[in-house]
Formats: sequence, C-alpha cells, structure tokens
Amino acid sequence: MKIACLGGGPAGLYFAISMKLRDARHDIVVFERNRPDDTFGWGVVLSNETFENLANNDPLSAGEIRRHFAYWDDIAVHYRGEKIVSTGHGFSGIARKKLLQLLQQRARGLGIELRFETEIASAAELSGAYDLVVAADGLNSKTRNEFAAFFRPAVETRKNKFVWLGTHQKFDDAFTFIFEETAHGWIWAHAYQFDADTATFIVECSDATWHKFGFEAMSQDENCRACERIFEKYLGGHKLMSNAAHLRGSAWLNFPRVLCEKWSHENIVLMGDAAATAHFSVGSGTKLAMESAIFLANCLRTEPSMPAAFAKYEDARRTEVLRLQSAARNSLEWFEDVERYLHLDPVQFNYSLLTRSQRISHENLRLRDRKWLEGAEAWFQKLAGAGDNLIRRPMFAPFRLRDMRLKNRVVVSPMAQYKAIDGCPTDWHLVHYGERAKGGAGLVCIEMTCVSPEGRITPGCTGMYAPAHEQAWKRIVDFVHGETDAKICCQLGHSGAKGSTRLGWEEMDAPLPADNWPVMAASAVAWSPRNQIARAMTRADMDKVRDQFVAAAEMAARCGFDMLELHCAHGYLLSSFITPLTNKRTDAYGGSLENRMRYPLEIFRAVRAVWPAEKPISVRISANDWVGADGIEPRDAVGISRLLQDAGVDICDVSAGQTSVDAKPVYGRMFQTPFSDRIRNETGMATMAVGNIFEPDHVNSILMAGRADLVCLARPHLADPYWTLHAAAKLGDRGETWPPPYYAGRDQLYRLSGGGEPTTTAV
Ligand SMILES: Cc1cc2nc3c(=O)[nH]c(=O)nc-3n(C[C@H](O)[C@H](O)[C@H](O)COP(=O)(O)OP(=O)(O)OC[C@H]3O[C@@H](n4cnc5c(N)ncnc54)[C@H](O)[C@@H]3O)c2cc1C
Ligand SMILES: Cc1cc2nc3c(=O)[nH]c(=O)nc-3n(C[C@H](O)[C@H](O)[C@H](O)COP(=O)(O)O)c2cc1C
Repeated sequence: MKIACLGGGPAGLYFAISMKLRDARHDIVVFERNRPDDTFGWGVVLSNETFENLANNDPLSAGEIRRHFAYWDDIAVHYRGEKIVSTGHGFSGIARKKLLQLLQQRARGLGIELRFETEIASAAELSGAYDLVVAADGLNSKTRNEFAAFFRPAVETRKNKFVWLGTHQKFDDAFTFIFEETAHGWIWAHAYQFDADTATFIVECSDATWHKFGFEAMSQDENCRACERIFEKYLGGHKLMSNAAHLRGSAWLNFPRVLCEKWSHENIVLMGDAAATAHFSVGSGTKLAMESAIFLANCLRTEPSMPAAFAKYEDARRTEVLRLQSAARNSLEWFEDVERYLHLDPVQFNYSLLTRSQRISHENLRLRDRKWLEGAEAWFQKLAGAGDNLIRRPMFAPFRLRDMRLKNRVVVSPMAQYKAIDGCPTDWHLVHYGERAKGGAGLVCIEMTCVSPEGRITPGCTGMYAPAHEQAWKRIVDFVHGETDAKICCQLGHSGAKGSTRLGWEEMDAPLPADNWPVMAASAVAWSPRNQIARAMTRADMDKVRDQFVAAAEMAARCGFDMLELHCAHGYLLSSFITPLTNKRTDAYGGSLENRMRYPLEIFRAVRAVWPAEKPISVRISANDWVGADGIEPRDAVGISRLLQDAGVDICDVSAGQTSVDAKPVYGRMFQTPFSDRIRNETGMATMAVGNIFEPDHVNSILMAGRADLVCLARPHLADPYWTLHAAAKLGDRGETWPPPYYAGRDQLYRLSGGGEPTTTAV
C-alpha cells in the first residue's frame, strides 16, 4: 500500500512504524511541516499499561523509549504552606523531543520516508496519490476542518488558561502540584521531571486571574519572567523556558476538547489529537495517539477491506476515547472549579485532587499508599468527633446535626412503598423500616408522607393527617428507637400536580383509571398531557396547606422522629413553586428565585417554629431540572441553598430531576453528587448526596473528598436492608453494631469475608 501520514507527531510516526512492521512492502511517507528538532512542548507521561502495549507492538522502539524514561512514584502537593506527599502512583515521563527523535530514528531504520519542512495544504492533495492518508495533523487539524461536513467535529473550548513551560529546576522526587495564592487570584503549576535535567512546568489559572496578571499583552519571555516571580520559592533560582515559538503572543492556550462523529472519509482517516483530545491533566494524549496507531494498523491487517478496518477502528477507539474523555472532563472541571476547594484542609484538598478524575477509588488509594490514606482517614474521624478508633472508613464516622447524633454517614433514602391504607402505615411499613434500621444505616428516612388526603401522590401513599397515622408511625419510631441505634427522619410532602396517580409499580405518574381527585400546584400546569391541569393555588389554599404541614410536623414531633425533611424536589407541590418550568405566577410567589422560594420558605419557617429546637430539619431539592437554561441548573441550586441556609435549614438533601417530562438527565455513577459538591463547597452548607451511589467505595470517596456530609442510598437498600452491615463485614470493619439475636450470623459472615471476628457490642 502507498501510505501518506500527514503529521510527524507521535500518531503519524508511530502509525508509520506499526504499518511497516506488519508489512515491510508498504511504501510510507510522513509529511511534517516542521524541522526534525522543532518540537513544541516538554515532557509527556506514559503509564505502565501504555508502555506494555508499546513493547508488545515494537520491542525495539519501546526499549529505546524505556532507556530515556524518568520514573517517579510520588505526588507532592504544595498548598497553603504545606507539602503533602503520597506515593505508589507509578508514572514515567520522557521528553517529547526525545520521544519524537527515537520514533524518527526507528522510522528511518525501517525505510519510511520522512519529509520535514513540508506543509500539506490539503489532505485532498494526498488522497488521489496515496491508497491511504492518515491525518495525524494534531489539535488544530486542517484535515478535520477541511472535511468537517463528513467528520462532524465538536470542539469545546474550556475555561482555564494554561501555558506549557520547562525548567532545569529538579522535580525528580515527585509529580508536583503547586497552588499559589496571589493578589490576582490563585494560580497553579503541574510539574514533572522528564530527563536528567529538565522538567515540564505547566502553569494554569482561571480566565479572570489571567486577565488580571495581564499575560495577554506579554511576550513569551516576559511571561516566563512573570511566572518565575510567582513560583520563585519553588524554582531554586532556575528559569522557566518556553519553546512554543510557533505560537503567537505569550503562548497561553485554552484547552480544546475535540470529538468527531466520524473519523474517516473515503481513504482519509483521522488519528491522535486530530480525532479526539484528552485534557493534559490526565496525561493521556500521547497514549491515545500511539494506541490508536497500533489499533488501526492491526485492523488494516485483519479486516477484509479498508472501510471495514476503519469501521472497526472507529468503533473500538471511540469507546476508549469516550472513557478517557469522561475521566479527563472530571479532571479538567476540577481544575476549572478549583477555587471552590481552596478553603479545604490540606488533607482533604489533597484527597480531592488525587481522586478528581474519579478513576482512583478510595480503596485503590489504599493500595497505592496505605499510610497516607490512613492518616487522612484518621483526620476525618477526628474532625467528626469519633472516639479512639480513628482508622475507620469515612462512612463509619459519626455525624451531628443539632442534638441528633448519627453513628455513621449512611442514609436510607426516602422510598415510597405504596402500601398504606387511607394514608395509614401498616405492618408492611413496620417491618420494612424496622429491617432497614436494623441493617446498620445511621439514618432511615421514611417515604414522602403526605400532609393531606389530596396531597398524596397515589392512594397507597402514607399520610400524617389523622390520629391513626400518628399512632401507626409512633409504633414504627418506637421500634426503631427501642431495638436499634439508627435515627429516623420523617419526610413530609404534598404531591401538587403529580397527585392522583397510580401506584409506583402500576404506572408511574399516570392518572388513576377512576375517582381522580382534583390537584393544585403553583400554577395551572399539568404534569404531562395525560394528567389533570392543576388549579393555581390561591392565598387561601396556601394558608391551608401551610397549616397542614404544621399539623403534620407536630404529629411527627409527638411520634418522636429524630429529624424532619421537607420534600421540595421532584416536581411535587413545593418543587412546583421553585422551578420556573411550573411556576408561572405573576404575584409575589413567581418570577425571581427569591419570589419562587417564598412559599417553600414560609412552610419551612412555620414548621421550624413547631419542630423541637434540638432536632434538625432537612430540605430535599432538585438541583437540576435537566432541561438546560429554561429550568433549574446547578448554579441556581447554589442560590436555592443559600436561601435555605439563611432561613436556618440544617442540611440540604441534593437530588435532581423529575420536574419535567422533557428532562434529559445524564446518568452515571454518582451522577448527582457534583451538585451536592458544588452546594457544600460554595455555600458551606451541610449536604446529603444521592443518586446511583451503590458501593462503599463511592460513599467513602464522596465523604473523604468533602463532596457531601451524608450519603443516601435508595435502591441498594431495597435490594439489601443490611447494606451497611454487609459493607462493614466486607471491608473488615468491626465497629458496627449488630442486633444481638443476629450475632451468630454476623460472626459467620466476618469469618467468610476474611475480616476476622467483630467486637461483640450489644445494641
Ligand atoms: C500542555 C500540554 C501537556 C501535555 N502533556 C501530555 C502528557 O503529559 N502526556 C501525554 O500523553 N500527552 C500530553 N499532551 C498531549 C500530547 O502532546 C498530544 O496528545 C500528542 O502530541 C498527540 O499526538 P499527535 O501526533 O496526534 O499530534 P501532535 O503531536 O500535535 O502532532 C501533529 C504534527 O502534525 C504536524 N502538522 C500539522 N499540520 C500539518 C500540515 N498541514 N502539514 C504538515 N504537518 C502538519 C505538526 O507540526 C505536528 O508535528 C499534552 C498536551 C499539552 C497541550
Ligand atoms: C421505589 C422508589 C420510591 C421513591 N420514593 C421517594 C420518596 O418518597 N421521596 C423522595 O424524596 N424520593 C423518593 N425516591 C427517590 C430516592 O430517594 C432516590 O433519590 C433515588 O432513587 C436515587 O437514589 P438511588 O440511585 O440510590 O436509588 C424513590 C425512589 C425509589 C426507587
């Protein structure tokens, strides 16, 4: 085959090598506009896994690359006058220039023609003369733009500014992050050694800080001098250097996240940064480029035709790219939002930094550096006011809200059971909540319990509006308090426009087949075209419902519940006031966020006045309507939380969605946790995170990184009422208490889990 590689970066060169190794008869030319040694940038990082892939593909070039590797195991973080070091991270780095020289050498040795100082104006020029054109022309790929109609690229320019510098100061003991506070804001560096006497030194900051420094107007030289002054105490008198002569001005960039819908067109195929980019903070751009080169070379050998090879290449590599881009997005967003975390204690800040991409879990950190993690866990437990045993997972740390003391951080999230009769909880509820309270969670939250018959969602929903309800709930609360050390929270709500619907397992949110009751909400809006149009509440309605909430809170207090939660989420009555999607009012309760929050806050204040002062109140919100700018977005949720916080709400239970049938949620592991993180770290309010959190590792990492104070699990507790006790046994934690009649089961479980014998503590 006659092959043209457009671009002599890692992708173009390594693809040429990989093809030639598979069939020496290929006639391959690499076109590169620069001279052989002209490369920009400094060092690149390769993981052990990538190196193994390179070694399997071409042991010779891999051996040469290995000879020039700089290795380091530690990550050091300079922050607020402290240097925190953790180990076990295992990176290797190489000078980008050296890597390219080695690949050029290897390519020449294999008989590949390298044409430097040859700028290709259009890939179309090559596609007629060659059987295959690999467009590896980098981040600003002309080919991608020329054939944009076919490749359909999406380029997202990220917020932060960064510049890629080098230095002869040694950073050979650790991959080093330096966070500096200046008069113009925070600015930070990512530094790592890549050969005997040079280190990469990437400087990054927010757009606002960048403007305040006036970097825009600086030459590259002036920029280096300015950065030297900022990071003076870490540079030991060494200079910062730029080798980005090809870039205009001070060489600062915004990272462009690139993804193309298609990677091939006729005989042209995109590779490396031209096809997709991954943010430099996860150090995977070169990995993606070189592994894609190997994969396509394989496909061209195994597949019967070029289109089939392209299809297989695109399919497999896209999955890999999306996986990495997702981790890279978490990581780059962490750096974009870093000012949110700059109040954290150095221990927690470091943990948050290390786990920012969500690829490194809590237990994975233990494998890397047990001593450091145990130190961090001890810091967490101490702060939480734990007793003597400080080496426990964060999920087993106590928590206090007003006078309520929770034994651990796991919450059974509220879940409607649809098993009530005329609003009255039954033996089902006694057994259901009793089991969950025995199962080890620190707090059990009961389902949305409605303040009036017409405020129920379905005929099976529980209520708190009749003496029989109070009696039945008291029986449940007494059992929980008498037989377990869990606390129990009463969630109060009113269904609003989502009322008068069928049982959850029949058809969610569908109107009843008969005997529908009239519904009311903030405005005359129906939940869906199938549901009734709600009646817009009058002031008299508002007074009535407020008084119903107050009466229900008084009953809950008499039952002995430890905490109250107001359900202001998921499109029910109070939520219908908060979101502009359903609040169309023109009076003092509609319009601005302050106005839309007025009625929910009125309810909160009225309830707070009758709820025992020593007991906390939580509010559950939908922090994202998932419909874009027309609805609540996470930034609005911060505004909501500030109003709640000012009113005296003790903790915000941060849920999302279920406010619009048009919502397009982006699901994934812990997918709502970023909203809790944002609220907690921007307002300082305590939060509960919820949503697809199902492993102890998730819970521990959320807590340890300061993304929430409590973690709610719903569906996992339907599948396993004993989720917390089982997690403790699996993790070998002996501190959780089991009900005495179950000791024999507990001891067997610990033995089978390899966690040894638990301490025998009675409830
Ligand atoms: C600040 C920063 C830090 C980074 N750190 C790391 C890291 O630690 N680890 C890592 O793996 N990756 C890192 N990367 C990413 C990495 O540099 C790229 O992902 C990688 O170089 C992609 O290889 P490529 O061959 O696709 O593109 P490039 O390396 O950009 O190569 C493209 C080549 O094509 C040439 N070219 C372009 N247009 C033409 C034309 N019309 N005619 C002829 N030649 C042309 C260019 O001159 C260039 O040599 C970093 C990137 C940045 C910006
Ligand atoms: C069967 C079921 C019933 C639910 N009922 C309620 C409820 O009454 N009140 C509430 O705020 N959330 C309710 N939810 C939402 C959960 O509390 C939780 O926010 C959601 O299920 C996401 O958590 P998970 O991924 O751990 O299941 C319910 C969820 C389920 C699965």
